[in-house]
Amino acid sequence: MDKQSGPIGIFDSGYGGLSIFKEIWKQSPQYDYIYLGDNARTPYGTRSFETVYQYTWECVQALFAKGCRLVILACNTASAKALRSIQQQQLPQLEGHHRVLGVIRPTTELIGNYTKSKEVGILATPGTVASESYLIEIHKFFPQVNVVQEACPMWVPLVENMEHLSPGADYFIKQHLDRIQLAAPKMDTLLLACTHYPLLLAKIQAHLNPGIQILTQGEIVANSLVDYLQRHPEMDQCCTQNASVEFLTTGSPEAFAQQGSLFFGKALQAKKLVL
Ligand code: DGL
Repeated sequence: MDKQSGPIGIFDSGYGGLSIFKEIWKQSPQYDYIYLGDNARTPYGTRSFETVYQYTWECVQALFAKGCRLVILACNTASAKALRSIQQQQLPQLEGHHRVLGVIRPTTELIGNYTKSKEVGILATPGTVASESYLIEIHKFFPQVNVVQEACPMWVPLVENMEHLSPGADYFIKQHLDRIQLAAPKMDTLLLACTHYPLLLAKIQAHLNPGIQILTQGEIVANSLVDYLQRHPEMDQCCTQNASVEFLTTGSPEAFAQQGSLFFGKALQAKKLVL
């Protein structure tokens, strides 16, 4: 393999990024990909800034070591807490082209076009909410839009423990939807700003007032990647195109294959990565 080029790396704290990768792969199947899930240390959403940064940078370095030159953080928590530091402090020290992109920017530069009432809701992990990344970024692009956030600490564990379709899940889903609808009475657009939440979509729809549109990030991020590679031919040349996909996990490959297929929508095989 040419040292200057390799697969596109897709990183998440666990399975959630597969809901983003599914759309990236659908739109751009010609590239090679390595997906890495840090399942041994998930969830990231309740961890400190320093820990999320340390874990994310370790995983990005592992993907660089496998030949990736472009890595997508397909995780809101990692994008909120680690991306900027990696871009500003780590990448300038590396030789050759190395880029790391996140999922927050592609979403925030579009979200104002979806809302007519100029009030949007953000559902995310406690870490993403505390970072205020969505508030800051949306106001850069759409200063007139009111943004209301709600942290949903139980939602990732519900999905991770395969309880997302159970009757018990309804209680926790309704609880947060009631809160955000009370805090944002004019909200007409609700963003699922966590890569696990698309698996809760049916229940979210069932408990949400009619007339509120729900946005998921997969397609938005996939479109944004196509656009990025068109605008940056020097990075496109760093991405090999043999249509291959490899799944790596820091956790159990068997569990990843079983549970990951729920997020990815089809069967997959995974290999263990020791960091
Ligand atoms: N993938 C993370 C996100 O999108 C959620 C899972 C976690 O807390 O690690 O925020």
